[in-house]
Amino acid sequence: MKQAQYHALIVDDEPDIRELLELTLTRMGVACEGAETLEEARDHLNRSDFNLCLADMRLPDGSGIELVRHIQQHRPELPVAVITAHGNMSLAIEALKAGAFDFVNKPVELATLRELVSTALKMGRRDEAPNPTSPSGRQLLGESEVIRTIRATINKLARSQAPIYISGESGTGKELIARLIHENGPRADKPFVPVNCGAIPADLMESELFGYCKGSFTGATHDKPGLFQAAQGGTLFLDELADLPLAMQVKLLRAIQEKAIRPLGAQKEVHIDVRILSATHQDLATLVREGRFREDLFYRINVIQLQAPTLRERPEDIPILVEHILERLAGELGVEPLQLDDSAREALGSYAFPGNVRELENILERAVTLCEQATIGEELLQLPEGVPVASSEVGGGDFELESYLMEIERKIILNALEETRFNKTAAAKRLGLSFRSLRYRLKKLDIE
Ligand SMILES: Nc1ncnc2c1ncn2[C@@H]1O[C@H](COP(=O)(O)OP(=O)(O)OP(=O)(O)O)[C@@H](O)[C@H]1O
Ligand SMILES: [Mg+2]
Repeated sequence: MKQAQYHALIVDDEPDIRELLELTLTRMGVACEGAETLEEARDHLNRSDFNLCLADMRLPDGSGIELVRHIQQHRPELPVAVITAHGNMSLAIEALKAGAFDFVNKPVELATLRELVSTALKMGRRDEAPNPTSPSGRQLLGESEVIRTIRATINKLARSQAPIYISGESGTGKELIARLIHENGPRADKPFVPVNCGAIPADLMESELFGYCKGSFTGATHDKPGLFQAAQGGTLFLDELADLPLAMQVKLLRAIQEKAIRPLGAQKEVHIDVRILSATHQDLATLVREGRFREDLFYRINVIQLQAPTLRERPEDIPILVEHILERLAGELGVEPLQLDDSAREALGSYAFPGNVRELENILERAVTLCEQATIGEELLQLPEGVPVASSEVGGGDFELESYLMEIERKIILNALEETRFNKTAAAKRLGLSFRSLRYRLKKLDIE
């Protein structure tokens, strides 16, 4: 007989379930070992190598979550999924947070189990890229500490199937991060489907997301699959999630929990296998408090949260971004890349970028179009004057507010410096800033 290529560890104290799982996996070419307790499971993990671990949540000597934590600590490369009682979402979410890559409900549906197993097996074969890039060559650029951390996190999250909620101001790279998570994970060869929840009219939302059947309403002349089905096997990116009408929030929650949807006018539900990533520039937690976003959906979608940093928080990344953007623009135009002169560089260094990286892209694109020399001067950047905070916040370039805020900033920074006897590293830490960001502020405020 052919030697099995993959090995799985199945941890469950019920012999019937172990047998069912073993049978299913063996048919998929996965050799199985079984364990009844946490202790036995740890023993197996010490003795052999596995490609996958399936663990029941309730074991005679402890919880499946303990095993997930154990694996995270000792075998972080090993994908582990937990089996939970149907409807026990809080335990499933706890397991995902602890590092389980996915979960299955009991009673186990074989189709879902097979999908989970094949996703897990694809994971092991991927080498971790130190810098996640997409096939299209997209990268999350920057050498600031926040960006480095996010890059490392993307690699880790790409291997999980857990829903991720990406927050951050407009233009900070939320969609880019979502794409990189998809493109560096086991679903990379399946579609990434972005949905702008704010752009779809409320009354079309359901049919767009879930699809419809011929004859389900006037004008439905044929079956149309929805976006969930378009993303089958891949990732659905729900952008501007805060704009989802409350009625749709209920249906979305149901779809995610049941891993099934019902197209409009359809008799039967359709099983779906999609990973959900979501983003919004609004503060969902606040919307939940105000009753404008459902808490249960927020809880379900926000298993892991990523915060895309503003460009203001990482001004040290501006030169790297500028260089790449200018190179890209030159490539598109088929010319040599332009350079910024000193005045332009300085102006960008002290600009607040309410529109973040997207705004930087727009500024440079316009400057390149206007530029007739080899270097771009400050005047070509056409930065709005004296608005270092987002103009929406100050009502359009109020100079007094600006200097007032600078004065406050100066006092706080001087305070921190005095308290740390002018130790910049310690002062930065106290202020929750990176060392570079503090240095940039000191320079901006002219503090020696
Ligand atoms: N760190 C980064 N490195 C390189 N490019 C970036 C980075 N962050 C953002 N970008 C680029 O900036 C532009 C805006 O990014 P993206 O669309 O992902 O932002 P967003 O957070 O989704 O914005 P919005 O809230 O307005 O939808 C894109 O062209 C993206 O490629
Ligand atoms: Mg976006």
